[in-house]
Amino acid sequence: MKFMRVTAFGLALAMLAAGTGLAFQGKDNKKTLEALDALAKAGNTAEAGKKAAGDLDIESVMRAFKPRAKGGFGVGAKAGLVPANQDGIEAVLPNLQKKGVAKSDEAKMAEPLTELAHRVAAIAAVTAHMGPEKDQGVKTKKKWAEFNEMMKEGAESLASAIKEKKWADVKKAAGKMNSSCSECHSVFRD
Ligand code: HEC
Repeated sequence: MKFMRVTAFGLALAMLAAGTGLAFQGKDNKKTLEALDALAKAGNTAEAGKKAAGDLDIESVMRAFKPRAKGGFGVGAKAGLVPANQDGIEAVLPNLQKKGVAKSDEAKMAEPLTELAHRVAAIAAVTAHMGPEKDQGVKTKKKWAEFNEMMKEGAESLASAIKEKKWADVKKAAGKMNSSCSECHSVFRD
């Protein structure tokens, strides 16, 4: 009896947690994705990034890194370019860092990866203005700017590696972006 009660309570809690999670993550991140995509296509000048940052929040901007089913950009014009479990910028970067792009995939991946690089650069132009307003322990404005710059440089290196067909440099550029994610998260993500 006691067991039953505990279980029912646990189940109710789990359902509540799942419910909130769903509401919070909502699939619809359209406004943010459109704003970021417009920046990416415009070549995201720093000024435009600052303006966009005023209308967006960090959580929805970061969600752009997820698979499209979870409010992210995904990778490529439509799902299916990469395996479903890779269909997000966040998921695809570690793989790129480790394996680069196979010779046989270069033609097919050039455009989607350039798009990915421009989108990450656009994200960086926006998140540059979303750091802490003042230093709080290890969470300093300087650290935020440093990690953000690393993300931006990684994205720019990826775009130029592809443009110049220096495919061997793709791994390094992806590695730089990856480090920016994990280093910034380890300091700033609660
Ligand atoms: C300059 C700092 C910084 C960098 C660089 C950064 N992030 Fe984040 N990220 C954050 C912060 C802060 C949060 C927590 C946002 C929140 O929920 O309030 C976050 C949250 C996230 C989330 C969760 C979003 C959600 O739905 O709650 C994802 C996914 C994510 N980041 C992916 C990435 C990836 C991938 C990269 C690298 C390509 C990256 N981030 C680079 C600061 C950063």
